[in-house]
Amino acid sequence: MAIRQLPPDLVNRIAAGEVVERPASVVKELIENALDAGARRIEVATAGGGLRLIRVADDGAGMEGRDLALAVERHATSKLASDDLSAIMTLGFRGEALPSIGAVARLTIASRASGAAEAYEIAVDAGAKSKSKPSALPAGTRVEVRDLFYATPARLKFMKSERVESAAIVEMVKRLALARPEIALALASEERTVFRLEACPPGLLDHGLARMGRILGPDFVKDALPLRAARGNVVLEGFAGLPTLHRPNGLQLHLVVNGRPVRDKLLAGTVRAAYGDLLPQGRYPTLALFLSLPPDEVDVNVHPAKTELRFRDPNGVRSLIIGALREALGAAGHRATASLAQAALGRMALPSGQGARPGTRPLGLAEEAQAPLASFAQPSGDTRASIADADEPPPASYPLGAARAQINDTFIIAATGDALVIVDQHAAHERLVYERLKRSFANGGIARQLLLIPEVVELDAEAVASLSAASPELERLGLVIEPFGANAVLVREVPSLLGTSGVRGLLADLAAELAESEDEGGARLLAGRLDHVLSTMACHGSVRAGRRLAPEEMNALLRDMEATPFTGQCNHGRPTYIELKLADIEKLFSRR
Ligand SMILES: Nc1ncnc2c1ncn2[C@@H]1O[C@H](COP(=O)(O)OP(=O)(O)O)[C@@H](O)[C@H]1O
Ligand SMILES: [Mg+2]
Repeated sequence: MAIRQLPPDLVNRIAAGEVVERPASVVKELIENALDAGARRIEVATAGGGLRLIRVADDGAGMEGRDLALAVERHATSKLASDDLSAIMTLGFRGEALPSIGAVARLTIASRASGAAEAYEIAVDAGAKSKSKPSALPAGTRVEVRDLFYATPARLKFMKSERVESAAIVEMVKRLALARPEIALALASEERTVFRLEACPPGLLDHGLARMGRILGPDFVKDALPLRAARGNVVLEGFAGLPTLHRPNGLQLHLVVNGRPVRDKLLAGTVRAAYGDLLPQGRYPTLALFLSLPPDEVDVNVHPAKTELRFRDPNGVRSLIIGALREALGAAGHRATASLAQAALGRMALPSGQGARPGTRPLGLAEEAQAPLASFAQPSGDTRASIADADEPPPASYPLGAARAQINDTFIIAATGDALVIVDQHAAHERLVYERLKRSFANGGIARQLLLIPEVVELDAEAVASLSAASPELERLGLVIEPFGANAVLVREVPSLLGTSGVRGLLADLAAELAESEDEGGARLLAGRLDHVLSTMACHGSVRAGRRLAPEEMNALLRDMEATPFTGQCNHGRPTYIELKLADIEKLFSRR
């Protein structure tokens, strides 16, 4: 077949395949254009999942009548003043969005350049351009896209249900709204308001969090750590969610580079490395990070949808992010999530309104707590032993307060000046042991305890093989074992921090861990694997729930938690304690 030059219409439809993948991508391109035009207020309306209608109106700089005709031409842009691609500060620069959209839908644009006497409009229907003509629009630009993909039925067939496409639009608008807190943004779907976000005053760290809460959820506001760091002329600021605010996927990792929301493949890994063992396996934190750097430090011309970019110095950016996150998380120390406490209070709250007579109201947490509380009240010697000596409590000015009681041999109740703290003793101790193991490992070695009589632990052959293969690694961690026949190992030394009681269970768990990491093709980093083994060890070496603690032991645990970084959650990402403010408790009793 002879080679032919493709006609512009067809070229545009081909380009549309990349640029406008689905309704949400049209929404993205149009909002980006509004932002590039300096809009302060953007209104988005959609119908039929964006397939029937997408309308984006802005109060930006607008276009002159003659520019309007050019705007829908391919590769026509006002955003590249020179031929330099290395200093792009706008979101767009390829001049592809409007012609692509016009090629596959019915597009109309009305616009009035600021200061111009008249507004103009132009229409493109499946690639067929009309002449521009005067229009009525007080200011800014209004773009309407109807019947998206009607000109490319093949693509139309790939669209999901209206509900799914609508959800993708909501996500897209939220992502852009998050990236530009200083812009007012409203979204309506089928003529109903989905959300309306007011503009934030400048100053992300001072004013940005409330609006982020509208986008990332109210828990984020309570559990976000502000951070700011710089490295050369690269500045990072933003908010990182506490590790307990973890999610099953990376969708709530928001990275904004010079005002552009990007999907960076490096980011997920970087962030997970920074949170490290604070997160349970396979979970992701919630965060919003804003990176500003000179435009020539990034290449945004990587992908037609412009959501990916390349850093000139990816390692520098990586270490800036990791350093800032580690510092923020370390400073948060033992802080657990406030939203958990709120949830606990919520469960305790009495139903409001009349008719809440005693005996008829449903009991929430109070009822569940009845058993321990009842036995608490009985003056049996047994229970008294678990009440901390109130004569000389340590000052309640410690962040985690003074231990007052142990409940069910599982929870420590402590009081601070203005709050009640409930600690899960096993979770807390496990984290402490783990942090201590890690520290001593980093400081040159984990102290070992020689067993006078080596312990024989029977295991299946596979487990014995995995453990034997890993024995040099385990030895560095203080666990000295050797195979003992095909179905057992001999334990000669254990980390002194752990003691000998749980050795059998520990080895079984370690074998399972090791087998799993072998399944992953041994790809897991050695360090990550060591952390994991240490964490498994800590779990076995910790005070189990169900052990009675003396008052001094309880207070020692609390002081240890305060002194040790990262004790707000256990190695499985569960909280180690919650704090209920007295003020909130008083509200429950209608004292406030
Ligand atoms: N909302 C808008 N307000 C003002 N000008 C706009 C708007 N949308 C598009 N334009 C103009 O149309 C041109 C083409 O837009 P587009 O096809 O999206 O390409 P690009 O954004 O890459 O320049 C832009 O460069 C800009 O000059
Ligand atoms: Mg554009």
